[in-house]
Amino acid sequence: MERRLYTGRDVSRAHGIDDLREMARARLPNFCFEYIEGGAEDETTLRRNRAVFSDIAFVPRTLVNVERREQGVTLMGQRSAAPFMIGPTGYSGMMFREGDVKLASAAAAAGVPFILSNASTISLEDVVRRAGGRVWMQVYLYRTRDFVAKLAARAKAVGVEALVVTTDSAVFGKREWDLRNYLRPLKLDWRNRFDVLRHPRWMANVLWPRGMPRFANLGDLLPPGQNSVKGATITLGQQLDPSLSWDDIQWLRDLWPNRLIIKGVLSAPDALRAVEVGADGIVLSNHGGRQLDGAVSPMEVLPEVVQQVDGRLAVMLDGGFRRGSEILKAIALGADAVLLGRATTYGLAAGGQRGAERAIEILKTEVDRTLGLLGCSDIARLDARYLRWPGHLATTVAPAVPAVHARWPYQGVSVGAAEAAPGVLPTPPSPVSHA
Ligand SMILES: Cc1cc2nc3c(=O)[nH]c(=O)nc-3n(C[C@H](O)[C@H](O)[C@H](O)COP(=O)(O)O)c2cc1C
Repeated sequence: MERRLYTGRDVSRAHGIDDLREMARARLPNFCFEYIEGGAEDETTLRRNRAVFSDIAFVPRTLVNVERREQGVTLMGQRSAAPFMIGPTGYSGMMFREGDVKLASAAAAAGVPFILSNASTISLEDVVRRAGGRVWMQVYLYRTRDFVAKLAARAKAVGVEALVVTTDSAVFGKREWDLRNYLRPLKLDWRNRFDVLRHPRWMANVLWPRGMPRFANLGDLLPPGQNSVKGATITLGQQLDPSLSWDDIQWLRDLWPNRLIIKGVLSAPDALRAVEVGADGIVLSNHGGRQLDGAVSPMEVLPEVVQQVDGRLAVMLDGGFRRGSEILKAIALGADAVLLGRATTYGLAAGGQRGAERAIEILKTEVDRTLGLLGCSDIARLDARYLRWPGHLATTVAPAVPAVHARWPYQGVSVGAAEAAPGVLPTPPSPVSHA
């Protein structure tokens, strides 16, 4: 039997993130879709990010009253309506006109944070003013540190709650699909130019009347006369700083008074270093498989990191999340929240703000349904006892599991939960609370 995904234009007929992905594929020219979709080199990490979820299975409780279900979480002191948020994706304006505002508005409407990429095509000030909600700002530590300091000052002036510094891009990942599509920066090959012409709906929405959208936050970084997308792309490549170190994070910590989050951590020692420099949170991330190919999936290191940081900072993660059930697997392993990358970008590309809202709606509904099916009425009670995973993951996943479970052939088996009265789960194995 062949399963068909929805490929029409009505986002309300998308029932899973994969439907939105197919809609995005139909609406976008190939070079744009590949920009969202692709990973680095052989895309092993891209696949690993997805594969890890099917290796972790649920152990549900039965006969638990789940008439009322709570999926809201408290994240760095503030309540969030769902255990996920929209992570930073650069150049969203190429997916849909004013894409950054549309994503931010969708997040605000859903009561979840939005992280604006520094490579946005709408300025930080405009996004904050037009979308409202909880806006965080992502930055790279460019060679021109003065620019970063100015951007931080702008973020402070408009009341941005958190600065998210991405640290996995000291060197740019090898994205071969991108190299193939262009003859040189922003000069598409003939095949792709022809393909663009076959997408008039996208052209009218994104290119008309001013051509390719421009980066709106990076003006001060670009040499005079080079603020075209092409000029900016070249300059940004040169601005990535391979000499980045923890001293630079300390520099940022000293100048930024609000929440500081480090995105791109993939090991427990680095998570502990983040605690030492005074970060408020980390995002375990391999950049959606777009940087180091062969890198571990954030899910694999999550329990170890949660255990080591012991509640001293918020632990978030991203990479491959396309289902509410997958988000709950991360929460059960101790994450405070999940960042969405491609999932909401597909929604945006499929249908603008309504499409991004639909992506969030789909995931919220799936989270809610999964909580019900798990026999867990409150996400704050979810823990590793609801999960089971095979031996090959045990070396990384095992630390979150209480010793009492260690004798079982599968780590994470829910003995404790099975012995407890229905609906009254034992306290979580890790001291980190999701509340
Ligand atoms: C199209 C696209 C653009 C991205 N741009 C940025 C960016 O500007 N800054 C950043 O820190 N991460 C960026 N990322 C990485 C995401 O923030 C996130 O780490 C990743 O997409 C998570 O994986 P997922 O897409 O499988 O959910 C981008 C990812 C994609 C797919």
